[in-house]
Amino acid sequence: MADIFEVGVVGSGIMGAGLAEVAARAGHHVVVRSRTLEGAEAVRDKLVKGFDKQIAKERMTADERDEIMSRVRVTDHLGQLADCDLVIESIVEDLETKKTLFAELEQIVKPSGILATNTSTLPVVELAMATQRPDKVCGIHFFNPAPVMSLVEIIKPVTASDDTIATATAFASTCGKDPVQVQDRAGFIVNALLFPYLNNAIRMMEFGTASRDDIDAAMKGGCGFPMGPFALLDLVGLDTSLAILDALYEEFRDPNYAAVPLLRRMVAAGQLGRKSGSGFYDYS
Ligand code: 3HC
Repeated sequence: MADIFEVGVVGSGIMGAGLAEVAARAGHHVVVRSRTLEGAEAVRDKLVKGFDKQIAKERMTADERDEIMSRVRVTDHLGQLADCDLVIESIVEDLETKKTLFAELEQIVKPSGILATNTSTLPVVELAMATQRPDKVCGIHFFNPAPVMSLVEIIKPVTASDDTIATATAFASTCGKDPVQVQDRAGFIVNALLFPYLNNAIRMMEFGTASRDDIDAAMKGGCGFPMGPFALLDLVGLDTSLAILDALYEEFRDPNYAAVPLLRRMVAAGQLGRKSGSGFYDYS
């Protein structure tokens, strides 16, 4: 099993920033790459802001913050990932874009480096086959918000070696997470079970069976979920949710995975949830 010292994170969205925080806190050296320097610097600012909140709650000292941040480097150059033992990408949920990235990483990252994807649903084997090291490609799927959620799904495409899966599993454990292993099928465990529920919640509201607020209250109060389906859809992002449902439907053709039209229309309108300021709720 390989030792993971330096971790590369590609993508500066909600998950990229969360992954960088989790890995840096666990003692890894982290390089975050965004397409723009502004995007990369925004991740650094977000991490510092999050740590400052912890300092205000007296859960962390300024020295601890500085020590963690001293391990975080941000860049807009993919070349900076050359020495990484593990690279996790968390860019847009689009297969072709991810395949292009994996082909680029193949050229840049040292041959022993593991290349992982944080994809929610896409076939990991296709990313593996975009490289010359398919045995060293796997899925490491964190949940949102990554610093809080304890689960990590380790996805094993048919091409991955046992050693890669063991290394990825050990990495998740050193990050303080509880890893589970799953085969490379759309949605893996959680999203394959979660998204029919989220999709049907929208359908139920559209049918007029109950209101948004009552559905959210019911699932919190009746099932003990920390947030109702509409609040969760807004947290995950409506565009990401739609991409997940489309990928699930594409693979299984199960009508429960067929995205309800309202979701597609809201995404077309740019109502993406918390990140855009409005979704099922208003965050302005
Ligand atoms: N980053 C870091 N920490 C965060 C955070 C974030 N984005 N959001 C909340 N937290 C922390 C808070 O600081 C707080 O920590 P503390 O108790 O130590 O001070 C703790 O989490 C609780 O936060 P709040 O009190 O503000 O609010 P809640 O108690 O409502 O918790 C929540 C917020 C953690 C988001 C909780 O509502 C929850 O667990 N929701 C369900 C989330 C979920 O199901 N995620 C999975 C989505 S599916 C997915 O990610 C798969 C992907 O492929 C789409």
